[in-house]
Amino acid sequence: MDAQQRIITLRKELSEHNYKYYVLAQPSISDFEFDKMLEELQELEKQHPEFFDPDSPSQKVGGAVNKNFESFKHQYPMLSLGNTYSQEELREFDERIYKLLGHKDYEYICELKFDGLSISLHYEKGLLLRAVTRGDGTQGDVVTDNVRTIKALRTKLHGDFPEHFEVRGEVFMHRPAFDRINQEREEAGEDLYANPRNLAAGILKQQDSAEVAKKPLDIFIYQLIEKNETIKTHFESLKKLKEWGLQTSEHSRKCKDVEHVFDFINEWDEKRKLLSYDIDGVVIKINDYHQREELGFTAKSPRWAIAYKFKTEAACTKLLKIEYQVGRTGAITPVANLEPVFLLGTTVKRASLHNANEIERLDVRVGDYVFVEKGGEIIPKITGVDLDKRDPGLLPHVYITECPDCGTTLIRKPGEAQHYCPNESDCPTQVIGKIQHFIHRKAMDINGMGDETVELLYKHHLIKNIADLYDLKYEDVLKLDRMADKSARNLLEGIEASKAIPYARVLFALGIRYVGETVAKKLAATFKSIDDLMNASQEELMKVDEIGERIALSLVEYFGDANNRAMIERLKSAGLQMVNTEKEKEKVSDILNGKIVVISGVFSKFSRDEIKELVEVNGGKNAGSISSKTHYVVAGENMGPAKLEKARQLNIPILSEDEFLNLIGQSI
Ligand code: IVH
Repeated sequence: MDAQQRIITLRKELSEHNYKYYVLAQPSISDFEFDKMLEELQELEKQHPEFFDPDSPSQKVGGAVNKNFESFKHQYPMLSLGNTYSQEELREFDERIYKLLGHKDYEYICELKFDGLSISLHYEKGLLLRAVTRGDGTQGDVVTDNVRTIKALRTKLHGDFPEHFEVRGEVFMHRPAFDRINQEREEAGEDLYANPRNLAAGILKQQDSAEVAKKPLDIFIYQLIEKNETIKTHFESLKKLKEWGLQTSEHSRKCKDVEHVFDFINEWDEKRKLLSYDIDGVVIKINDYHQREELGFTAKSPRWAIAYKFKTEAACTKLLKIEYQVGRTGAITPVANLEPVFLLGTTVKRASLHNANEIERLDVRVGDYVFVEKGGEIIPKITGVDLDKRDPGLLPHVYITECPDCGTTLIRKPGEAQHYCPNESDCPTQVIGKIQHFIHRKAMDINGMGDETVELLYKHHLIKNIADLYDLKYEDVLKLDRMADKSARNLLEGIEASKAIPYARVLFALGIRYVGETVAKKLAATFKSIDDLMNASQEELMKVDEIGERIALSLVEYFGDANNRAMIERLKSAGLQMVNTEKEKEKVSDILNGKIVVISGVFSKFSRDEIKELVEVNGGKNAGSISSKTHYVVAGENMGPAKLEKARQLNIPILSEDEFLNLIGQSI
């Protein structure tokens, strides 16, 4: 077979497998086989650039770097929907439909309202031509390269699709992926994303589609825009979209009257907790296209559809003060101090304001009455200002320009929302924060030392950076308040013992911006000593799996600083582990090659960590949460019912400890 022929075959087969995997959730080959085919295709495409095709499955790993997004005027404006939060208003909506149509012979389609970003996709001859964001509703940004990276999206359709058509849908991120990314950020001392929607929006607007490809976005298509009269109802259109290979939601339902709509709403208000992605309500649409036409549009939204939003409890309270926190990496976070208010079981006194842009966007002023919500987010957030209650004398908030702690002028890097205090080595909060991070259980795990001891040592000028810890003397420590002979000895023993902590954890403990636990492990596996790492160029660093430009730059910057280098030399002389001595775990079998396993609950023969290790040495990968990609769940005692239910829903085999051991041939 010649190369071109093979390329075509591989592309076709891989698209088919992507569809089976992501849309039907019924893969017919292993991930390993898939990766092999993809590798072969990538190799052939590299040798034969003349056969380049933007719709090749290989493009799902991204590549093109765009400078600016081109903007595109929507042929039909991307409108929004009328919102309601009450069943009464929904009845009124139904009454209006009845009056306008003059009869009761209509039905609704109820759909989940996905909490993501709307996107318009243009297909021509079955190929994805362009993807455009909603923008201001009239025109949006062309983000085709980024959207192409979404694994569940077919860019080449099959079946009887029209020659040209447009579909609209929602791009979103699953909660487990979001949590993982946030966890990595937390470990790296970075600010957390407020919710999956914000993160998905940020990702879609990234300039480098290779970076986008590393972030797991997903899509549901919910609207076909087509001028032919062949399709008569929305329900039929959803069926067609699916036939052509586009991912639609499996939860859309025909409802013959408003009572059935209520059933759907009540059912999903409960069941939404089991979904792996966020929905913020239900969309109710008239099914019949002719009836839609009869009903028409208002200036802002169609009369034939409405969104019923689930309630997120909000409270209104007074903003007393805006304070600023300095993180250990110097990031400044504004925090709202509120008049205490009761919300969903707790009293809320503080809420995050994220950054200067957010304060500006909300135009929130000290003294304002603000709305506070707890939308599944980490800490409550301010969602708006009650302008009716605003005292006309209130002045716009002026963001600080100097570090509240050390007075250094703040900086803000281009493209970043956060302000930073650049005074890394002298800003007390940063210095103390860095040392506290260093001694933390997940880092150097220094026994006998807590956050308060660090503060005390710093205040007594006994430590000013992490290397100073290793010069501490018994007499110095004993001078501190509440330190007696025993506690002083414990502390020094703890410091001594930390010298045995492995290199990867030392790397994490250094507190380099964006270097969390996972990244540190990856770096230590590739660069076997700190000298190798310090001498690595940005390009060399970026060759490591999951290390992008941002992390690489941060490392180069950190190791380029003479103070940091000197400190590392001191740590080396103190005897810390700066070389990777860990042997690669020896492989026992390939039984679990390409398999993703989730371990949950408590086991009787092995500990959870041992079971995880068994997965790895038998070729498998561990994952923290269940998704359609999971191959097995190994369930011990006390596995959570929600997890079990999810595994059952996704038809994932649930193995007991013994069944798992049997599977890997380790039964005892
Ligand atoms: S239909 C005329 N269906 O909700 C607009 N929208 O305010 C027709 N959304 O911008 C939209 N899930 O981003 C529709 N199943 C669904 C949806 C959905 C989420 C979003 C969409 C739209 C917003 C409406």
